Amino acid sequence: MRLAGKTALITGAGRGIGRVFAAAYVAEGARVAVADIDAESARQSAAALGDAAIGVAMDVTDQASIDAALAKAVAHLGQIDILVNNAAIFSAAPVVDIARQDYARVFDVNVAGTLFTMQAVARHMIERGIRGKIINMASQAGRRGEPLVAVYCASKAAVISLTQSAGLNLIGHGINVNAISPGVVDGEHWDGVDAFFARYEGKAPGQKKREVSAAVPFGRMGVAEDLTGMAIFLASSESDYVVAQTYNVDGGQWMS
Ligand SMILES: NC(=O)c1ccc[n+]([C@@H]2O[C@H](COP(=O)([O-])OP(=O)(O)OC[C@H]3O[C@@H](n4cnc5c(N)ncnc54)[C@H](O)[C@@H]3O)[C@@H](O)[C@H]2O)c1
Repeated sequence: MRLAGKTALITGAGRGIGRVFAAAYVAEGARVAVADIDAESARQSAAALGDAAIGVAMDVTDQASIDAALAKAVAHLGQIDILVNNAAIFSAAPVVDIARQDYARVFDVNVAGTLFTMQAVARHMIERGIRGKIINMASQAGRRGEPLVAVYCASKAAVISLTQSAGLNLIGHGINVNAISPGVVDGEHWDGVDAFFARYEGKAPGQKKREVSAAVPFGRMGVAEDLTGMAIFLASSESDYVVAQTYNVDGGQWMS
């Protein structure tokens, strides 16, 4: 019960990693606002967690939606002690095919969404004197480029950089900002990545997943549950002296 009495807002928690984090936080004693642009998936994720969770519709690209979702979460939970900036979208294309519209959408969700959700929650924490925890979801894609994934990689590099700057700025208010950098985590997100590579590289469905699995030193792709230990640590008082860091949780794929 390392999060007993704590409250958390998790964006993009209608499915995938965010949904598993919500369950892990509740299992540690927290109450959680499960937020997603897909309001129905947020509602279902929260319903599966009983009274400890509430589903919230939230589009992280829309300031009014961020403010409304935060207000609803605070009204229900009392305050927000922990924010997980998890919502993101993936995109891939050869550099010569990247569309400006696609670039703008990815940066709006992954970078501006992370920044302005962090800003809204940090203001709330500062107003209430909450020594809060903010966890941003980065990616190994933010550690180095990939030939077909320029925009998503750049957006995750920006998340790592934002984590550093916000971490240094907000620790003065007693708010820890850190990030998790997963490697390859199986789920609906990776189903889409696999389908992309099937299209662009002529691979059979499932082939890209098998290739990336074989390349992980641990010996397999990750699952969302592999990340929960770090997500709980960074949300708990055990990480009070950890500031502005991005932790790789990737089965040994990246070292830095
Ligand atoms: N799955 C992986 O291999 C992997 C690897 C590295 C990093 N990550 C990162 O981990 C996080 C979660 O990944 P996942 O695999 O669970 O992804 P996912 O695609 O399964 O889930 C993302 C969720 O975000 C929501 N979302 C999208 N746009 C939104 C918006 N504008 N506002 C609010 N919610 C929005 C989606 O509806 C979805 O429920 C992401 O930040 C992702 O970049 C994932």
